Amino acid sequence: MANASLKIDDKEYPLPVITGTEGEKAIDTRRLRAETGYIAYDQGYGNTGSCESAITFLDGDNGILRHRGYPIEQLAQHSDFVETAYLIIYGELPNAAKRKEFGLLLRKNAAIETQMQKIFEGFPKGAPPMAMLSSIVGSLAAHYPELATNDFEKDLKNFDLAAAMAISKVRTIGAMLYRYQRGLPYVFPKQDLPFCENFLHMMFSEPYKDYVAAPEVAKALNLLLLLHADHEQNCSTSTVRMVGSSAANLFTSISAGISALSGPLHGGANSAVMHMLQAIHDEGDDGTRFIAAAKSGSKSNRLMGFGHAVYKNFDPRAKIIGKACDDVLNKLGIKDPLLAIAKNLEQAALHDDYFVSRKLYPNVDFYSGIIMRALGIPMNMFTVMFAIGRTPGQIANWRELASNPKGRIYRPRQVYVGPVKREYVPIAQRT
Ligand code: ACO
Repeated sequence: MANASLKIDDKEYPLPVITGTEGEKAIDTRRLRAETGYIAYDQGYGNTGSCESAITFLDGDNGILRHRGYPIEQLAQHSDFVETAYLIIYGELPNAAKRKEFGLLLRKNAAIETQMQKIFEGFPKGAPPMAMLSSIVGSLAAHYPELATNDFEKDLKNFDLAAAMAISKVRTIGAMLYRYQRGLPYVFPKQDLPFCENFLHMMFSEPYKDYVAAPEVAKALNLLLLLHADHEQNCSTSTVRMVGSSAANLFTSISAGISALSGPLHGGANSAVMHMLQAIHDEGDDGTRFIAAAKSGSKSNRLMGFGHAVYKNFDPRAKIIGKACDDVLNKLGIKDPLLAIAKNLEQAALHDDYFVSRKLYPNVDFYSGIIMRALGIPMNMFTVMFAIGRTPGQIANWRELASNPKGRIYRPRQVYVGPVKREYVPIAQRT
């Protein structure tokens, strides 16, 4: 076991070392302030382990992502979204009986009750979908208060039902807000349809004409959701833990996570990529201008879909989804000029010293938008799709947090750099 110590002036303080099951090492600084008077400064928490977690292992330097030990490549090839959701939440792949039971619970809890449907009407038709989604998901705590008591012990007793509701209803709310915004009548979930087919049915059915998803379309949607199902302590999942750490219930915590996901540097990146590709297409450019602008260092000109806070080699999800893009478009007989632009842009960036030296590679969002477009999902719904996919990871993290008897409220500190103490000046004496 490694030893660590911190020397401040002449005094040395031993610090315990924690080693994870994959050999990741951490210096335990929990007693640092109490013993030294110092805090650890880590703006953005890039070097801070906020928890111990048994859900997802991510090695950004080597492009590794595993859920409960299973490599993402194997799950993408052999599993589907619902099975992977179960794995992420409960820790093991379900046997046939458990898989059936879980699927049934999702199907039974898919519908949005009449009273809750009225919430939609309170939003302007052009409201940003993520603003609607986070609010309506937050309202689940009001509609099912018995599952959302803000008491971990009680809420954990009802966890299976609350988790199934969250997964199933976030998906239904996503489809309903799509229809609400278009002035279309809602299409209600069908109990006999699997998860992804049901979503597509609720989105795209027409009066007297049910949408029946082609197998390749349902498969592509399954893959897309599965690849987003969890991603360790990212911004939105950390938000779920932050909110949950105050003993807030599952629905409220997930709603906060959805809000965090809406920003363009996180879940909003997928539509930003498509805007960028479309602009390149409209200009008849080959992407040179965007690459040059991205190298200026300005945050607003970044090459969207490139770079990642933790993957500094490649994003394994991007490899899977990049390949799936080709397959899906081929199977559906779609030729999307934006795919060719994306590939050219990727090649140009991968051979450009600016991107290479900063270890900026395509992330999952670089190609996910092209798949969603092929499935008929409009751009302003892309982040909603991400949110539907991420729900299992948020639920699993909330459960892990709520089940930890030694957990404490998340409350970081700061280094104050504002004015030092001064006396109040009455308004008449102020210059
Ligand atoms: N285009 C151009 N330059 C970039 C990009 C980019 N996409 N990303 C990072 N850089 C540059 C930065 O300007 C910085 O340059 P400097 O060292 O000269 O100052 C350097 O690369 C390191 O950048 P950081 O901001 O430190 O990278 P960080 O790890 O904090 O940010 C992030 C990661 C937010 C994902 C960033 O790469 C980015 O903004 N990418 C575009 C948005 C995007 O695709 N987001 C989706 C992420 S995946 C997800 O959420 C599912």
